[in-house]
Amino acid sequence: MISLLQHHTFALPAFATSLIRIEQLNELNQVDWHIPFIILGEGSNTVFVDDFQGQIIQIANKGISVNETDASYIIEASAGENWHSFVSFCVKQGMYGLENLALIPGTVGAAPVQNIGAYGVEVKDVITKVSGFNIVTGEHQVLTNEECEFAYRDSIFKHALLGKFIITSVEFELQKEWQANLSYGPLQFLQAPTAQQVMDEVIAIRSSKLPDPKLQPNSGSFFKNPIVSNGLAQSLLEKYPSMPSYFVSDKQIKLAAGWLIEQANLKGYKIGGVEVSEKQALVLINSDGAVNKDLLAMITHIQKAVLAKFGVALEHEVRLIAKSGETKVEAPTCHK
Ligand code: EPU
Repeated sequence: MISLLQHHTFALPAFATSLIRIEQLNELNQVDWHIPFIILGEGSNTVFVDDFQGQIIQIANKGISVNETDASYIIEASAGENWHSFVSFCVKQGMYGLENLALIPGTVGAAPVQNIGAYGVEVKDVITKVSGFNIVTGEHQVLTNEECEFAYRDSIFKHALLGKFIITSVEFELQKEWQANLSYGPLQFLQAPTAQQVMDEVIAIRSSKLPDPKLQPNSGSFFKNPIVSNGLAQSLLEKYPSMPSYFVSDKQIKLAAGWLIEQANLKGYKIGGVEVSEKQALVLINSDGAVNKDLLAMITHIQKAVLAKFGVALEHEVRLIAKSGETKVEAPTCHK
């Protein structure tokens, strides 16, 4: 048995049968795929809520290669590279476009799985290909951007390819003709910034709003921002005119889960060792030796409170792993 405390940033006490660290891709051929497994990078979006009866496959291959065309840089990064180090490398080398995604915890290989996004940019905007090992065929396979079926915090790797595909590298295309993306409100004050200045500002905003997992164990945004019908959003806006809302389509509006949780009076709320962050209500913190039942109770409590007050169901964005694999705490469907 191996302790997973150091292998997921929420740091709940949990064990797995074994852990295999993959540094060379040929090691993937030696894994016994009949044993239940979980693929892990740095564990910043995965929480082990029980002892996992199987092997952890930790992807730790390294390497970055750069090619260029007249108009763009084509960069292939190994899945095991740390995401923020990769972003910093690109900006230092004068390859811009990822700076809004600075300081997101985790690895390059995890980025496409949940289509990481922040401050007006989603990683799908710059990914051209995702390469990996297909466990079913035992062969190398390359997916185009379109084949990845990217959506908000979602991709084919969470659905049809779940448990079947191991991302080994990601290819990005960054245009040489660069323009800062200042669409996110708090970045708009920047005047003709350099990419480095955008990155510095993103780092400053994140550091002020999001607790550092090294100091306060957490998994970033715990819930997805819910996408609701236009009708529900309009009736909520009549009652709460200052509620943040974002256009998705004529029929759908995205709401801010952090705002809903704060308005449900849950900032700073504690169950056992789990606490709703005072800085950002969308982040749950392991503030005091939390155990799995504290976290599961907190998820349900938040889902119930938000449903009761706003009629909105929250879905957790973080992947939860129990004894036999991934599990979900379903949002209650009615608040009685
Ligand atoms: N808000 C509150 N109270 C809170 C938190 C937020 O009122 O406690 C309000 C804010 O004032 C703002 C709105 O809610 O009007 C949205 O908040 P914010 O801009 O902080 O972003 P978010 O929607 O809470 C999303 C991503 C973050 C990403 C930020 C910035 C998701 C699930 N989360 O958070 O991503 O960094 O936007 O773009 O989409 C992550 O996925 O782990 C993550 C941190």
